[in-house]
Amino acid sequence: MKFSAMLATITLLATTSLDAHAGDRNQGEHLAKQWCTSCHLTSTDQASGGDAAPPFPLIAESAADRSDDLSAWLADPHPPMPNFNLTRREIDDLLAYIESLKAD
Ligand code: HEC
Repeated sequence: MKFSAMLATITLLATTSLDAHAGDRNQGEHLAKQWCTSCHLTSTDQASGGDAAPPFPLIAESAADRSDDLSAWLADPHPPMPNFNLTRREIDDLLAYIESLKAD
């Protein structure tokens, strides 16, 4: 039930902001807040979160240079990270979001 509600939200977000080429940053943010905050700091304004994993703003500094590595990383299970079974699109969205956190 919860999952189908989530799917509906994702579908809605995906159709309101279609970007055929790159990942959708807003969708990535949504996914990150849902799945990644327990271990990672996922934004610069997240007050508290796990400190066991590298914060997304830190990953962002080099993300654009190694997006292939990072998408491979996210496509494979990597304990202690849970296996999210992310789709190609979810990975692109998450990376678009992470890359958007890079400081100017
Ligand atoms: C259960 C805790 C946990 C959750 C939940 C989690 N991660 Fe991680 N993640 C880690 C840990 C710990 C590392 C560091 C592992 C290492 O360096 O060997 C890591 C590393 C990473 C890296 C690699 C960073 C680098 O510089 O190579 C990426 C990218 C990443 N996580 C993305 C995500 C995304 C996206 C999500 C949500 C979909 C997520 N993680 C959810 C624990 C978690």
